[in-house]
Amino acid sequence: MASVPSLASSVNQRVADALASALPEAGATDPLLRRSDRADFQANGILALAKKAKANPRELATTVVEGIPTGDLIQEIEVSGPGFLNITITDRAIIETLAARAGDDRLGVPLAENPGTTVIDYAQPNVAKEMHVGHLRSAVIGAAMVEILEFTGEKVVRRHHIGDWGTQFGMLIQYLLEHPHELDHKSDEEVSGEEAMSNLNRLYKASRALFDSDEEFKTRARARVVDLQAGDPETLSLWQRFVDESKIYFYSVFNKLDMDIQDPDVVGESGYNDMLVETCKLLEESGVAVRSNGALCVFFDDVKGPDGNPTPLIVQKSDGGFGYAATDLSAIRDRVGNLGATELIYVVDARQSLHFKMVFETARRAGWLNDEVKAVQLAFGTVLGKDGKPFKTREGETVRLVDLLDEAVERATAVVREKAEKVGLTEAEIVENGQYVGIGAVKYADLSTSAARDYKFDLDQMVSLNGDTSVYLQYAYARIRSIMRNAGNRKPVAHPELELAPAERALGLHLDHFGELIAEAAADHAPHKLAAYLYQLSSLYTTFYDQCPVVKPEPELVVGENRLFLCDLTARTLSKGMSLLGIRTPEKL
Ligand code: ARG
Repeated sequence: MASVPSLASSVNQRVADALASALPEAGATDPLLRRSDRADFQANGILALAKKAKANPRELATTVVEGIPTGDLIQEIEVSGPGFLNITITDRAIIETLAARAGDDRLGVPLAENPGTTVIDYAQPNVAKEMHVGHLRSAVIGAAMVEILEFTGEKVVRRHHIGDWGTQFGMLIQYLLEHPHELDHKSDEEVSGEEAMSNLNRLYKASRALFDSDEEFKTRARARVVDLQAGDPETLSLWQRFVDESKIYFYSVFNKLDMDIQDPDVVGESGYNDMLVETCKLLEESGVAVRSNGALCVFFDDVKGPDGNPTPLIVQKSDGGFGYAATDLSAIRDRVGNLGATELIYVVDARQSLHFKMVFETARRAGWLNDEVKAVQLAFGTVLGKDGKPFKTREGETVRLVDLLDEAVERATAVVREKAEKVGLTEAEIVENGQYVGIGAVKYADLSTSAARDYKFDLDQMVSLNGDTSVYLQYAYARIRSIMRNAGNRKPVAHPELELAPAERALGLHLDHFGELIAEAAADHAPHKLAAYLYQLSSLYTTFYDQCPVVKPEPELVVGENRLFLCDLTARTLSKGMSLLGIRTPEKL
């Protein structure tokens, strides 16, 4: 599509431009435009400007008001309070601006002026272990961030930092060596993710039991760790079998989540093995890390243990082994040095915040991170059960992610089936919609509260048709699509010459805000802001639909056409926004 024409800037932007030209000396000062209840917008920027210029804010505001022509864009502008501006937009400007943006595939959403390269670390389960709700959060929030950032024009590199290295592999590999057929597949047919995980589980439990009961096995397992670290080929090839088997399982879960994870982006902890020695050398030579009781440590003034003594970040243990921190520091060197990252985002459980704080600070001291290259943890809270306690089964075990997803789809399918006849869905469509609604419900519940907060995993609430749920949004979309089909699926023509009803104005101005909202959600790493925007969009649409007949409008046909235009743009905005969140919007529901 051609570049966005200038009219395609939002109403918000056009007002900001008008204010700027009425007060050229304001330069690039932010007019701080906000949607307001009293008028369409309120501009608060005059206050700060007046303070800087040592001028009277009300007088300055009055100058702006006098310098702004009303008519085309601005219907009314007045000074209020200590020097705020209340601004009402003309009906014409709202529809005209939306119409220009509707012609663009990107819905007029501008690209970032200076896009960078973001490396985002998300969806990082652990080899030979079951995935749990924490891994779900990382995957869902991370995938939404990827889409939102890419939509703004940012170059995004995905990294799935899976836990595929560590001493636990000694025990697993040794066991497999002694029971060579334990990971064999029953037939030549492809194994399912379920089967792969159950093989791994069985092996994990058996080797653990042996490790805990048999001292000689324990010794052999420990020696195996040394072989693994030394790169012994036989040991490595057995290790690879665990990784491969786990990947079958991971991919099946990601597939269920309707998520596209690419193999080259899966660079687990082991992917940085070759860099560990160098990382330690650089840290030690620069004095960022020091030897303490044989271990290579980095100290921080503000990180202390309960005894008041400083708790260091251990980069290399006294036995020479490397851990989680050495890997993460090496990954930073790789992402900045080789991938050219200008920003690093880690979508990881808030319980790892201290680790990342220390790792980032170490990398800054070493010069790998600086003012041009930032690293942030997009930390997420704990998933709680209905009882408000960390989500566990009745037996106190972690809940298997697969079971949860299956149950969500099952419930959603029942919901879809209830209405299926009325909408005219085939059995295949019921099944497909059941998946889109069920998986959408789980993702939306995760994305609609700010990541940092804990959230309750409550399937009843998630698939409810009322309230802030994905199903509610999906139904809103499907209803509009049905209206559009009945209207012959044509591109409705906007009519800026018409006067608008209040519900049309409210919907129109909210649609106008989409571009700015995307920029904000991207900059703040806040997919929940997009979710909130979409929910409000559906609510405003519902009000509009109740108050403004679309199909049989009186008295003129053009009124209906203009409303159809608003319907169409609402549907397109909903569908685009939902797809950024990783949620499908079925055409019929
Ligand atoms: N595998 C880890 C876990 O399950 C998460 C990895 C997070 N990423 C990182 N670069 N440390 O907790």
